[in-house]
Amino acid sequence: MGSVIIGSGRSLPKRTVTNDELGAIVDTSDEWIVPRTGIRTRQIATEETCTDLGAEAALRALGQAAGGWQREEGAIDPATLDMIICPTLTADTHFPSQAARIRERIGAENAVCYDMSCACSGCVYGISTADLMLAGSAFDRAGAEAAGRVPRRNVVRRVLVVAAERLSRLVDWDDRATCILFGDGAGAVVLEWRDGEDGVLSSYMENTDDTARTLWCDSAFCARETPFAAEGEGAAEREGLDPYMRMAGQAVFKFATAAMMRCTEEALERAGLSVEDVTLFTPHQANERIIRYAAKKMDLPMERFQLIIDHVGNVSGASALIALNEALCDGKITQGDIACMTAFGGGLTAGSCVIRI
Ligand code: COA
Repeated sequence: MGSVIIGSGRSLPKRTVTNDELGAIVDTSDEWIVPRTGIRTRQIATEETCTDLGAEAALRALGQAAGGWQREEGAIDPATLDMIICPTLTADTHFPSQAARIRERIGAENAVCYDMSCACSGCVYGISTADLMLAGSAFDRAGAEAAGRVPRRNVVRRVLVVAAERLSRLVDWDDRATCILFGDGAGAVVLEWRDGEDGVLSSYMENTDDTARTLWCDSAFCARETPFAAEGEGAAEREGLDPYMRMAGQAVFKFATAAMMRCTEEALERAGLSVEDVTLFTPHQANERIIRYAAKKMDLPMERFQLIIDHVGNVSGASALIALNEALCDGKITQGDIACMTAFGGGLTAGSCVIRI
């Protein structure tokens, strides 16, 4: 029994931005960016909102729009979704949640909705949390059935995890250390609890204190004052507030490489599997060098890793979901295979899940 992926989708904005175009804005070049990151182009939302991107990825995951992947033939009815979880750093509105905005757009009239703030680990935190919800609900329903009573908690049989990100709105386009790295987009999976099938085989999530502020973005609303503050009160918080994301590149690189290995090993151990059992690794795409480092450490060829960073950049929490969807749509991974999704990001968050497709 387990949480089975029954649909997968992705959506990318239509505007492609090349490294040469970035070279016209900041002091950088294709020659600098490609060897250090693996990124050649990224898609930047010029008119698409997170709601647009998230809804399109969701409709493709459900088979309500062309271009997605479904486990079985036929579209999935959005009204059968019990829950929508949206990992995002850039919701279009503080409230309603981004998940609720997507619910409205796709007609998921029975879904309970909420967002998750866990930066680039959104894909893993989203799937892991959905799996916990599905397993918890299955346990609750079994108890209710045995005792001949109603379940004590919300019944959760189908969950849509849809990560939608527009980091182009958080980056400082004058900061060459960050603006070259990120792209916009959305990725989605529909998970269903099935008694007779394997799905998510294991998951692992962790948090580390970011006392050195290696990956950071202040909330813009903290700059506002209330009419109740005495002269100078709250000034310390407002002092130095920065509306853009900031990153200590080398420190993050160090954290990321260690987290990739630690989380992958932990999730595989929980699943009782080894790296050889994994058909395809679909990791978060922050830097091609981080993925190459992991491949070398695991003594595996790069063919065992889905690489999409060259054409999408770092799409934060959506990255690994987009990678998984590309692999499914291209037939690089298919039913019965095992995928391993590892991610890390601001928080500092990190985690991994092992999934039987
Ligand atoms: N173009 C040209 N030069 C650049 C540049 C750019 N886009 N960005 C930085 N530089 C310069 C720096 O100013 C520095 O110059 P200096 O030596 O004259 O001071 C030099 O290149 C080296 O900078 P450094 O930051 O040490 O580069 P790096 O080799 O560490 O690569 C990253 C930078 C960002 C690519 C790399 O640190 C990285 O990928 N870190 C992890 C990022 C990540 O994973 N973030 C997301 C986590 S979810």
